[in-house]
Amino acid sequence: MRIDIITIFPGMFSAVLDESIIKRAQQKGKVDIFVHDLRPYSLDKHHKVDDRPFGGGSGMILQAEPIFRAVAAIKRKIKGRSRVILLCPQGKSFNHACARRLSKCSNLIFICGRYEGVDERVRQYLADEELSIGDYVLTGGELAAMVLVDSIVRLIPGVLGDKNSLNFESFEGNLLEYPQYSRPAKFRKWSVPEVLVSGAHDKISAWRKAEALKRTRQRRPDLLKK
Ligand code: ADE
Repeated sequence: MRIDIITIFPGMFSAVLDESIIKRAQQKGKVDIFVHDLRPYSLDKHHKVDDRPFGGGSGMILQAEPIFRAVAAIKRKIKGRSRVILLCPQGKSFNHACARRLSKCSNLIFICGRYEGVDERVRQYLADEELSIGDYVLTGGELAAMVLVDSIVRLIPGVLGDKNSLNFESFEGNLLEYPQYSRPAKFRKWSVPEVLVSGAHDKISAWRKAEALKRTRQRRPDLLKK
């Protein structure tokens, strides 16, 4: 997979892309991630990428021209189809199913919006879809893009070492994950549920399924309706 990110703050990304599993995924050749500064795509002599909104109002709007030019330049480098995604609070809510769907794409282009706004023509004529990571407003789409990268890249086959670690995690099959314990079996006065140290795999499996259901019913009944 190849991911291209267009932003006016490229420096924000190194903390996420150059650490841990996402870093290793790149080293293993599972994903190539490119962060592009939007400013060089501006035709303005001062590399300006925003301007005041027509009709008045506060804040500055990211202009269409540099964003269209950046996407065109990236598409010229890509072989095959790509999906252009605008990160903004008006987008459809991102969830695990979206991460799964996008993890199957070979090329993703993320456009990080700014909270004041993005020229509507980017939305209408450039983006294939708009995604939001929740009902709150961030100062820009950068953190949202990082959330998407993290949740998508870990789903690419071979990125996580243990194949099983994806099988029963939260949101797979619209269930929250069952409770997990590690050594010691007794910590202070609290013991691990007996069944987990029994070695009876079918019983453990049934217990985990029941606990996942119970937890989902208590905390996220909306998931069960799906
Ligand atoms: N930009 C600002 N707020 C956002 C959000 N909630 N999701 C995605 N992009 C954003």
